[in-house]
Amino acid sequence: MRSRCIECGYVGEATPINIFCSKCGGLIDIEVIYGKGVSWDSINGKEPSIWRYRELLPIPRNVKRVSLGEGCTPLIRADRLPGLNGSLEIYVKFEGANPTGSFKDRGMSVAVSLANHYGLKRFIVASTGNTSASAAAYVSRIGGKCIVLVPFGAVAKGKLAQAILHGAEIYEVRGSFDVALDRVRKILMYGETIYPLNSLNPWRLEGQKTIAYEIAEFLGDIPDYVVLPVGNAGNIYAIGKGFLELYNLGMIDRLPRLIGVQAKGASPMTRLWREGGDRLIPIERPETIATAIRIGNPVNWRRALKIVRRLNGVIIDVDDDEILYSQKVMARYIGVGCEPAGAASLAGTYKLYRDGYLDRGDRVICVATGHALKDPDIIMKMDYSRRVYDPDELLNVLLERD
Ligand code: F0G
Repeated sequence: MRSRCIECGYVGEATPINIFCSKCGGLIDIEVIYGKGVSWDSINGKEPSIWRYRELLPIPRNVKRVSLGEGCTPLIRADRLPGLNGSLEIYVKFEGANPTGSFKDRGMSVAVSLANHYGLKRFIVASTGNTSASAAAYVSRIGGKCIVLVPFGAVAKGKLAQAILHGAEIYEVRGSFDVALDRVRKILMYGETIYPLNSLNPWRLEGQKTIAYEIAEFLGDIPDYVVLPVGNAGNIYAIGKGFLELYNLGMIDRLPRLIGVQAKGASPMTRLWREGGDRLIPIERPETIATAIRIGNPVNWRRALKIVRRLNGVIIDVDDDEILYSQKVMARYIGVGCEPAGAASLAGTYKLYRDGYLDRGDRVICVATGHALKDPDIIMKMDYSRRVYDPDELLNVLLERD
């Protein structure tokens, strides 16, 4: 396996404990070299988790898996959505069905398996919530220690609760997620022997590629579009890489277009996409109710942009009202409860449909990245009147209702 630095282009040997370029310290991509004979036939019939794709992942044969059964999440047909008159063929890929309720589990299973193989037991993440919940769970499985840095007051309750439950050591930082991630990088620069599980870790992203594999395998075809929320921009890169690798292996014969959706107020990549140029201008104080993607300086922006261009896609943004509307619609018309960030994918689809970018009959996959229960506070703010009665009084009220 080879690694290629995305900053200076240096090509070196990829080993699972290396996260950064050994020459310039930049982020690296993994170039997977596949064994002969990988095909859908060799995958068919294997267990329903990301590990069915082991031959497509850079995991040495002797590595023991650290798994909670992540992956193989439902692909749900959304045929009753209001405002579309059935003109699009939409499916929701429900990542909330993963063991800790988000897509992060896919990458965490791969990265923690590799780290464990090399005897690493101390881990660190900066997180808007889901990464910390997932890291805490997988690290607890190998008896390791997980240090978590989260932006103070800006993490949804369900996620913090999970990190607490799984025994992480939690530090709340006065500042944004970006500031917390910067501090993680500084700690690593000081030479601390601690393993980062953020999406700057390319091994984690290798696990997240499996979303692409599953879409291709279980749809049995390639959709026209794959739409997903973008925060630190690791997942969009990983999914794009997954499709490209299948394509290069001859396992699919065309590529979907890849659509990244950011939340207005936290959309530096959308601005770069619209205005052009080759430099991202970070947003100092990102703001959105979708706290998972409240990120102003996405660490993976460069490779994400490149892959969206390669897959003929686009990066757009949607506002908080559009996100909340889509969250509600997904829950009440399809039965899928996802957190606000996850609903940004549907909000983006609505927007592209209104703008005439999507055509009648287009097949669209919306990736709903996290479960509704992650953020109960946002749900409790929905229009809902509490009705409290004594039992007998209740009977009268309900029977007299017309
Ligand atoms: N959706 C959800 C529910 C997320 O938690 C995240 C990222 C994203 C989308 C965006 O993915 O960063 O790969 O572009 N959450 C990270 C975290 C940042 O710390 O949990 P991305």
